[in-house]
Amino acid sequence: MGVEKPLKGEIVVSFTGLGAARGARGPLRPGLRGAYGDAKAKDRGEPMDIRKVGVVGAGQMGNGIAHVLAHSGYDVLLTDITQEALDKGVGNIRKNMERQVGRGKMEEAVMEAALGRITTTLALKDIGQTDLVIESATERETVKQAIFEDLVPHLQPHTILTSNTSSISITRLASRTDRPEKFMGFHFMNPVPVMQLVELIRGIATDKETYEACHAVVEKLGKTAASAEDFPAFIVNRILMPMINEAVYTLYEGVGNVTSIDTSMKLGTNHPMGPLELADFIGLDTCLAIMNVLHDGLADTKYRPCPLLTKYVEAGWLGRKTGRGFYDYRGETPVPTR
Ligand code: CAA
Repeated sequence: MGVEKPLKGEIVVSFTGLGAARGARGPLRPGLRGAYGDAKAKDRGEPMDIRKVGVVGAGQMGNGIAHVLAHSGYDVLLTDITQEALDKGVGNIRKNMERQVGRGKMEEAVMEAALGRITTTLALKDIGQTDLVIESATERETVKQAIFEDLVPHLQPHTILTSNTSSISITRLASRTDRPEKFMGFHFMNPVPVMQLVELIRGIATDKETYEACHAVVEKLGKTAASAEDFPAFIVNRILMPMINEAVYTLYEGVGNVTSIDTSMKLGTNHPMGPLELADFIGLDTCLAIMNVLHDGLADTKYRPCPLLTKYVEAGWLGRKTGRGFYDYRGETPVPTR
């Protein structure tokens, strides 16, 4: 049996654990898949068995999430609003997996099997047939709310809903659905295939079974979960974004230029990327959206977004994804824009 209770009392499910046990018993009859998926699992104190995961949004985060899920053996159903976005997302997954194959981190056969586990759909309602939904659309509350509202009528009773939001209130998103107890934050870091952390955020109503089921998924992905309370931007972005915003103020006030700011933080504090390079990597629109959530949610002027960050976003200079941000990426090597 792949379930063990480690010291901290957290339930860990091994890669082959529940799936193998299920296989030995034969598939569950549909009638037995109640609100808990496997009706007996709850009595055994096991987390719900997640097999098929729906990912909403095939962008930078969504395709990374689909990548690691498929690599870990989950069937993945990926959706976006255009075929072009889906094709681009799946193309990126293949490119990133090929990079891992090239570096000896993944076997080619494993890559092909993982790619075979990913299917795509333009119909959001199809996502309702999965065990777990990870919404990874644009970091705008209205967009996320509309997705959950459209999805709710098509969900199975046991489906867990999660959002990969970087900052938005889980409790508020959950309140727009029919299942706040089965709703939580599932926050991956970029680039998803490389970064070890997943923040798990409980809303005020999230139940223990939902948390444990999501924790088991993180374990199966080989990643590490950190638990955060549901306050604006949780842990990572509560700390990271004010640092990035301060770097933009440093630029705005002429304390340093792009190169001196990034060099200072890379060589002076051993950060793998300078804060402005990292902002371009995350997306300046996302950075601004998170600063606005902090500013509005905590009502403290220390979180006011730097006007220069706003100006870059208004210009459509959103970082790497649009070819220009604090660096211009359109040539051979990135060139600072200030
Ligand atoms: N998919 C698969 N593998 C990838 C990858 C991807 N998308 N991107 C990089 N890699 C792999 C590379 O193949 C390479 O593998 P090996 O170790 O086997 O050689 C490894 O990662 C390192 O990549 P590179 O050699 O290309 O480049 P690097 O050494 O400069 O590292 C980096 C790149 C991993 C992105 C590193 O610069 C880094 O860690 N940067 C900081 C990233 C960070 O802080 N992310 C969090 C952002 S905050 C967030 O995401 C939360 C939010 O809500 C905004």
